Amino acid sequence: MFGKRQTFGGNTPGAGVAPRPQPSAPASGSLTVPARTEAVPKPVVDAAVNRLRNEDIVDVRSADAIARDKEYFQTKSAIFNALIDSIDLSQLATMEQEAAREEIRDIVAEIIALKSIVMSISEQEDLLEDICNDVLGYGPLEPLLARDDIADIMVNGSQKCYIEVGGKVKLTNVRFRDDSHLMNVCQRIVSQVGRRVDESSPICDARLPDGSRVNVIAPPLAIDGAALTIRKFKKDKLTLQQLVKYGSISSEGAEVLRILGRVRANVLISGGTGSGKTTLLNCLTAFIDRDERVITCEDSAELQLQQPHVVRLETRPPNLEGEGEITMRDLVKNCLRMRPERIIVGEVRGPEAFDLLQAMNTGHDGSMGTLHANSPREALSRLESMITMGGYSLPSRTIREMITSSIDVVVQAARLRDGSRRITHISEVLGMEGETIVMQDIFLYDILGEDQSGNLTGRHHSTGITKPQFAERARYFNEEANLVEALERSNIEQQTLLKS
Ligand SMILES: Nc1ncnc2c1ncn2[C@@H]1O[C@H](COP(=O)(O)OP(=O)(O)OP(=O)(O)O)[C@@H](O)[C@H]1O
Ligand SMILES: [Mg+2]
Repeated sequence: MFGKRQTFGGNTPGAGVAPRPQPSAPASGSLTVPARTEAVPKPVVDAAVNRLRNEDIVDVRSADAIARDKEYFQTKSAIFNALIDSIDLSQLATMEQEAAREEIRDIVAEIIALKSIVMSISEQEDLLEDICNDVLGYGPLEPLLARDDIADIMVNGSQKCYIEVGGKVKLTNVRFRDDSHLMNVCQRIVSQVGRRVDESSPICDARLPDGSRVNVIAPPLAIDGAALTIRKFKKDKLTLQQLVKYGSISSEGAEVLRILGRVRANVLISGGTGSGKTTLLNCLTAFIDRDERVITCEDSAELQLQQPHVVRLETRPPNLEGEGEITMRDLVKNCLRMRPERIIVGEVRGPEAFDLLQAMNTGHDGSMGTLHANSPREALSRLESMITMGGYSLPSRTIREMITSSIDVVVQAARLRDGSRRITHISEVLGMEGETIVMQDIFLYDILGEDQSGNLTGRHHSTGITKPQFAERARYFNEEANLVEALERSNIEQQTLLKS
């Protein structure tokens, strides 16, 4: 119907399945802390959050602060060890959160008295809170986890913890007592999804109960102590309107994206790590009709589709014996037997690229996926190499033809050096010229300079193409007039600005 589709033979050559490194196993191994039962009470977390907001974020520590920290950790260690000796942690794990806190509070007060430790009431409260976080929660990470404005938490060994707030990476003074304290917290996180992290299986992916994505890599692979990375799950995902408000895209650009989502264009979202690909994909899915059957495939369920008719699938890493792995490719292939109208792949990074293109080509218009690449053109060549590396012995021209006949548009997201996230390209795939894929930019972001506070200034604009190839699609969905109007408006603005 749209003149571009062509079907590729259904025979799928056998492909090597990309190995997922993280092993999984039923919960095993003895932990020094009991499994977390429920979240630490809100007032405690709030107090800790306030402290952290007000005073804890620092860039450099004075010698004084280091000495104070050392003393504090020593006291805490002494009390903590005495506490561990005097309570039955497994019993504590079965108690209600509040009762467990009360129990810990009583014993800690007793220990402080017995050891004749001099402490003010507020110091004692802080210490108690810290110890409760260690025993019942995620230790020093608890206040960071409670904040919704943090995008990422990055722990590099026990003494350094960075966070990303408002696009900027900052060092916090959150610290772990020592490497084993950090490993305990990592262990506690991964044990919740039935996995284990130690020297013999040092890489592990997991998820927090709130949906945050976690990766742990432990020594000896991580040379300076375990590295823990958490992509915080935003309860309220950003909408396209918010992206406009933040300047990630202009309102005309957002209109083009809305139309792409609505008219069932096959869209690839490309970008670097943390550039906002998943967020953008989530925004685009908002314009899918409520009566369409959508199947999502993800490594870690991050998308939040609002439609009623959605089936969510998640991959599974192999267990410790190396068995039971379900790859993205398995999911995408299975999708095709589930009568999908659209297939959404959270991240394309292996041979599933082939199956996704097949799906896009065989009546599942409006399928979408994200991949890591620095430009729309690079996104297509990455797609090609994923298919080649997947073991398909297809000539590169065939793969390229397959790409051009499947993908309609590539949307590029980027995190700029000032920390802001922008949609830098909306480019459409036109077809082949000889051996080369021809693309054309519809919408671009130009960086113009830098303001006094070091933030980049720039402008989104249409490239003057008011009738892209997918306008035909837009006409079919009665959106052509809107598309042309948005592109023309943006182009007129750009011309006026250029003249002035
Ligand atoms: N346009 C934006 N403006 C401000 N913050 C944004 C924007 N887009 C995304 N974010 C925030 O940036 C963080 C990373 O976004 P997201 O998970 O979408 O990135 P990603 O490219 O999918 O990352 P990864 O490569 O790790 O999967 C999230 O906390 C998200 O809320
Ligand atoms: Mg993502």
